[in-house]
Amino acid sequence: MQNYIENRAAPTACSSNTPCTVNIKINETNEAHTREFSYSPYSKFRVGAALLASDGTIIKGANIENASYGGTICAERTAIVKSASEGKRSFAALAVVTDVKSAISPCGLCRQVIREFCAQDMPILLVPADYPQFNKDSGDAEKGVKQTSIGELLPDSFGPEHLELPRGTV
Ligand code: THU
Repeated sequence: MQNYIENRAAPTACSSNTPCTVNIKINETNEAHTREFSYSPYSKFRVGAALLASDGTIIKGANIENASYGGTICAERTAIVKSASEGKRSFAALAVVTDVKSAISPCGLCRQVIREFCAQDMPILLVPADYPQFNKDSGDAEKGVKQTSIGELLPDSFGPEHLELPRGTV
């Protein structure tokens, strides 16, 4: 199976203070399988996320909806919480895929959760539903994949380090 993104060098901070270099190797099988387990009877909007941990493992997540709609958990948060709750909190890349033929971006709540665990410049890959067919004849090397980062998606954000700042007395 052809790699989804082959050897895209991703020098990234794996955790708050430990820099490392990891090649992104999230293959299309992982992408397709993430959506497969979406539980989305209400919106019928399937989302899958594949999180590449710094140790090279891939943690998958899908959106899990609830009859009480506010109880819905997005695919990105499913993947992050699955991983973090088993002690794996250092990540190198995240890929998100839906059934929409354009790159869909994480919601605001997911952005804040991503911000908690991922470096500002960690690659976030937004994958179109028809990858890898997208623009296959147009010479588009990225095949419609949009690469971004949490620094771009959530600028001037609040994060764990801000809780460490000295505070004035009130
Ligand atoms: N959804 C995600 O899984 N991730 C996002 O970043 C955006 C929205 C899900 C939540 C809900 O199940 C469906 O998409 C429609 O909002």
